[in-house]
Amino acid sequence: MFMINNNLSQKQFLGKICDILYCCHVYLNAICYLRFPAVFCALYYKHMDFQLTEEQIAVQLAARDFARTELLPGVIERDEKQKFPAEQIKKLGELGFLGMMVNPKYGGSGMDTISYVLAMEEISKIDASVSVCMSVNNSLVCWGLEKYGNEDQKQKYLTQLARGEKIGAFLLSEPEAGSDATSQRTTAEDKGDYYLLNGTKNWITNGNSASYYLVIAQTYPEKGHRGINALIVEKDSPGVTVGAKENKLGIRGSDTHSIMFQDVKVPKANRIGDDGFGFTFAMKVLAGGRIGIAAQALGIASGAYELALKYSKERKAFGTEISNHQAIAFKLADMATEIEAARLLCHKAAWTKDQGLDYTLSASMAKLFASDIAQRVTNEAVQIHGGYGYVKEFHVERLLRDAKITQIYEGTSEVQRIVISRTVLKG
Ligand code: CAA
Repeated sequence: MFMINNNLSQKQFLGKICDILYCCHVYLNAICYLRFPAVFCALYYKHMDFQLTEEQIAVQLAARDFARTELLPGVIERDEKQKFPAEQIKKLGELGFLGMMVNPKYGGSGMDTISYVLAMEEISKIDASVSVCMSVNNSLVCWGLEKYGNEDQKQKYLTQLARGEKIGAFLLSEPEAGSDATSQRTTAEDKGDYYLLNGTKNWITNGNSASYYLVIAQTYPEKGHRGINALIVEKDSPGVTVGAKENKLGIRGSDTHSIMFQDVKVPKANRIGDDGFGFTFAMKVLAGGRIGIAAQALGIASGAYELALKYSKERKAFGTEISNHQAIAFKLADMATEIEAARLLCHKAAWTKDQGLDYTLSASMAKLFASDIAQRVTNEAVQIHGGYGYVKEFHVERLLRDAKITQIYEGTSEVQRIVISRTVLKG
């Protein structure tokens, strides 16, 4: 497991000292030479640091290595047979990739969001069915519990989830409440010391493999979204039924099911936050989740681009490698540029979260843009491969199919545009 928190805090401490010395230097320069414009430029540029830290690079390389050695073999078969990558997820958990941002005292790896984004990109280049499981467990379930759960809930549930001993799922979507998340039909009736849960949730990632569900349900319908609660439900509770696995276009290895609740008794102690906090909880958690899915889309795009780049240097047509033809070279130029732009948006959103700033807008922008370019780049990667791109052995057709979902889950592209437009219109 990556136990880099101590190193990080030592580095952060040294970083702070450097910052203070740097500020003193700048201040002295300013008062001695009155070079204010230059001083402000220097301060501004100091904060535009695109360099990854040693720890972040180590995480990126470890994830890349894991993806190539553990995920690549068998990825085509898992996709074809819709096989959940249970073994691979277990190993991912042992390496600390399932609770990356969780404090080590709760079994996590204590990393920052940038490291998480880097790892998500690398895993998604090879197997997006694995990375969606990773994203849901890290940013919806573990982050939500660590941020808003109480100490007992953290001890009882978060520790196992962060270590990857158990997997979690986030249950918001319903047959009639996808984008319109306030219209929850699942009810959590207050029965004194427990809630009685009834209803159906749809398209649940990790639906069968999860041991713990975070369920969003309506307690006071008359209060609308302010009457919604978030509950931790154990999958083996009486009254919980897992529906058949969905037969999907992409991310076919991932474990997507409907979950039915019939008179499930959920102890009051399992409610997250105050009575009626559930909708705010869902929105807060989803903002972070969107950074994970943006990074997934980025990874799918960059995986397809790397394959297309390699292929274009090997495949010959009209007497030369196809990369020497401008028609292909220009496609590669556009793909590389779009991927770089998506990566910057993802890193900006992650950085904003790590700074403790409001990242709702930057997360939605990153997801909207990265999922759109994932569509375009994977499509172009298939085109560059020609006939080979249309068959499974060359991987790009799978990446094209996997890309589509990133425009749909954790808020469709239309929902991201709602979030973005409301924010920009507010000024
Ligand atoms: N943080 C905190 N609070 C927020 C918030 C945020 N980011 N966004 C909204 N809220 C609050 C609002 O302030 C408001 O509260 P008050 O009335 O108390 O002030 C309340 O929530 C309702 O907000 P809106 O009026 O804006 O709600 P709306 O009905 O217009 O819907 C929406 C807003 C953005 C469209 C929202 O419904 C939404 O995000 N929908 C998409 C849901 C989604 O992402 N589903 C994905 C399912 S999970 C999944 O896919 C996981 C997986 O398996 C991979």
